[in-house]
Amino acid sequence: MNPIIYVDAAHPGSQISRLIYGQFAEHLGRCIYGGVFVGKDSAIPNVNGIRQDVVEALRAIRVPMIRWPGGCFADEYHWRDGIGENRKRMVNTNWGGVVEDNSFGTHEFLELCRQVGCEPYINANVGSGSVREMAEWVEYLNSDGDSSVVQERWKNGQKEAFGVRYFGVGNENWGCGGNMRPEYYADEYRRYQTYCRNYGDHRLFRIACGPSEGDWHWTETLMERAGHCMDGLTLHYYTVPTSDWKDKGSATEFDLEMYYRTLERALRMEDLIRGHLAIMDRYDPEKKVKLLVDEWGTWHNVEPGTNPGFLYQQNTMRDAMVASVTLDIFQHHADRLGICCIAQMVNVLQAMILTEGDKMVLTPTYHVFGMYRDHQDAQALETGVLADRIPGGAKQISASASVRDGKITVTCSNLDGEKAAPVSVYLQGVRAEILGGEVLCGAPQSMNTFEQPDQVAPKSIDGAEVTAHGDGTQVTFTMPACSVATLHLNVLG
Ligand code: AHR
Repeated sequence: MNPIIYVDAAHPGSQISRLIYGQFAEHLGRCIYGGVFVGKDSAIPNVNGIRQDVVEALRAIRVPMIRWPGGCFADEYHWRDGIGENRKRMVNTNWGGVVEDNSFGTHEFLELCRQVGCEPYINANVGSGSVREMAEWVEYLNSDGDSSVVQERWKNGQKEAFGVRYFGVGNENWGCGGNMRPEYYADEYRRYQTYCRNYGDHRLFRIACGPSEGDWHWTETLMERAGHCMDGLTLHYYTVPTSDWKDKGSATEFDLEMYYRTLERALRMEDLIRGHLAIMDRYDPEKKVKLLVDEWGTWHNVEPGTNPGFLYQQNTMRDAMVASVTLDIFQHHADRLGICCIAQMVNVLQAMILTEGDKMVLTPTYHVFGMYRDHQDAQALETGVLADRIPGGAKQISASASVRDGKITVTCSNLDGEKAAPVSVYLQGVRAEILGGEVLCGAPQSMNTFEQPDQVAPKSIDGAEVTAHGDGTQVTFTMPACSVATLHLNVLG
């Protein structure tokens, strides 16, 4: 069957929060040090120590949010070690046992967000911290009162409150964040969040640690006991191609069967979101609490010869496809998802950017985020697909669409690893003209390297045909095997 994508263009739905295109940046391997922060004295062009090539690349895809400092690192991070002069050194016990000199701390993170032009999301320490430590971090960030904590901020050069809104109370507290039972964490969450005060207009969006994958009991317990005092509950889900954490499979060497298995694993995100939302809805029928998928992406074996604790992996068209199908799922749940952050931004797991010294490579995943950027804050359009199935049972085509200011964006992926697909996109209820489009394609194993950085990059779509059809518009074009495409349309009349 020739695939058909049906878009209900006449009935715009919920707004797609731009924050579902967020990034996660942890003190892990070369994500922060080397990837983002090189220090003021570096020969790599930087502003206040932050490398400018990376900032420019992140701005180009309109990164809307960065979550920091972890991850597992968050629950052994003591924020005072990362401010002012003479910063304390520590050993990063979670990630490679390397020395952390704390030269990148609160001020540097907020400077990064200022340069990228995005929202900060700070994840604080419950596992090895204290209520007072967390409360004072919030005060340091957001208070304008004349307290000794605020004076400390003034002394460190920041007069105005930073005004951080998104604040996480612990990370993976069922695991690296303290191995807690949900009953225990729910009580701890209630206590900690009590002292995370709102200062003036700076009102916090309080985020509780949610489940791993399909841990329905964690969600049930948190919603029942603490749902009334949170704004968001997190969900973490990683796509491990082999499903075996001990041998996750190579990032670059895999066959077609593993490609399809990877997509099948990635598409599990749909069931996880539905399952957790169904539980949340029982305790929160007014749907005040958002679900936040603030860690997601592919997790492969590290690149041979690299530090196993640094989680450095290459990124292929297979990863790009995981990104596109996952972003489609997020857009279909635009009404309930508040924030999503891919793990991680630079040099770690499913990264946007890889760096080596002063060199930088944009990954296929980076390009997908670029091709989806026009969806940010647009209104979702309901989308359906008629298509054959690929091995593993998923539909050959995944798609999502949105509209803003009379401009429609349709993004779609051909998951078939071998066959091109002649696709018809039917926009019901509007006459539209095509403004342009891009396609990203390659063999599932194709990637960008420091030697060949532009092997995988978007190209413009040739030969798309637009016709009036009933009360709508039909666009037909051919999608290569293993490809992601974006169509930009203008609504007429
Ligand atoms: O992203 C890497 C790690 O994965 C994070 O530190 C942790 O939260 C998760 O287990």
